[in-house]
Formats: sequence, C-alpha cells, structure tokens
Amino acid sequence: MKFFVDTANINEIENLVPTGFVDGVTTNPSLIAKQGGDIKQTIKSICSIVEGPVSAEVTATEHNKMFEEGKFLSSIAKNVAVKVPLTVDGLKTCKKLRNEGIMVNVTLCFSAAQALLAAKAGATFISPFVGRLDDIGQKGMNLIEEIVVIYENYGFETQVLVASIRNQEHIIESALIGADVATIPPKVLNELYKHQLTDKGLKAFLEDWHKTGQSILPK
Ligand code: E4P
Repeated sequence: MKFFVDTANINEIENLVPTGFVDGVTTNPSLIAKQGGDIKQTIKSICSIVEGPVSAEVTATEHNKMFEEGKFLSSIAKNVAVKVPLTVDGLKTCKKLRNEGIMVNVTLCFSAAQALLAAKAGATFISPFVGRLDDIGQKGMNLIEEIVVIYENYGFETQVLVASIRNQEHIIESALIGADVATIPPKVLNELYKHQLTDKGLKAFLEDWHKTGQSILPK
C-alpha cells in the first residue's frame, strides 16, 4: 500500500521524506490556501523533494478552462497528477488529459457509481472521501470495499486512493480491503508509530541496560 501525504506544507513534507514513507503528496485548494503561498511555487517545491505523484487541483469548473489549467499544472513538473472534481466537466477533462499521457486524480468521490465513471474516464487515481462520509453518518469504508470489488471485477487500472482519512482505523481498514493508496494528514501518519507497550517496553529495556554499566560503542 502506498502512503501519500495530504498537505501543502513544505516543512511537514521535508520532515517526513527521510522516513521513506512518502510515496506521493496530495493537495487541494483548501490546503494550498492554508499554506498561503503561490500554488505554482508550492507545487514546484513539493515536486522537487518528492519523486512520486503530487496532486495539484484545477479550480475552473468548465471543461475547456479545466483542461487549460490541467495542462498548465502538469507543465510544472513531470510528477504532477492533475486533480479534477467528479463532475461531468471534470470527467471530460480527465479523459482528455489522460489521452495526452497526463496523470489524473479524480477527487470528491462519494459513491461507487461516481467511481465507476471515473475509471471509465481513465482516471489514474480515484479519491473517495471516507471521513466526510463518516461525518454525515455513513460508513465511509463501505465505499472503499465497493470500489475495490468493482474495479477488480472489470480489471480497471484506476488506483483507489483513500482520502479524507481521520484516524489509524481508516488506514488499517483500507489496507485490509486492499486499497492501493492512502493519503494521510501528517498528524495521523505520525500517530502510526505510537503504541503504549512500545514506550513501556523501551523504558524497561533501557532501565535494565543502564544497570549493567555497559556501552555498545567503545568509550
Ligand atoms: C484528498 O485528496 C483531500 O485533500 C483530503 O483527503 C480531504 O480531507 P478532509 O476531508 O479532511 O478535508
């Protein structure tokens, strides 16, 4: 399972890259706005520190303008995946960008029917938003199960990129289902390391070790 980081914050990405866990990055207009800088410069900087796909989202809503924006965003770096919303114009744009060999991430997916359309439009990634479905009382993970089965039934190559992840359980359930990618906020990614028995066990090991008076490296 690939891990993408869901942020436009360069410092957060730079801190995570050395862990080897960062297979890509996703941004959206809200994350770019939160970061505060110029979108072109931000995407360029992220692409220079991450080798994998970096999603940059169009903000036009009409097909021709979306396509123009998508072409522009993809010219920033070769690892840009253009993000388009799951609308009629978005899927038309997806098909056209894919015909030109540009990676496309279809975002704001909330149903299996939408995911089926995105795969038929040739999307590289489909982004179902599990957290936002949970927020309205639905079970977001059910959607991931449905999409994985549908894509397997027909051999679609579109990768299932689980988005709007809020906690570890979303990641584990996505992995059990066999989703291709999880895009994870840095805060949640950092929580994956933690277990109280790890802390407790390490503390006990070190206390016992110090009692020996030894050091591993020559003094
Ligand atoms: C995905 O690409 C989106 O940027 C993101 O996962 C949305 O998450 P949110 O629902 O927490 O805003």
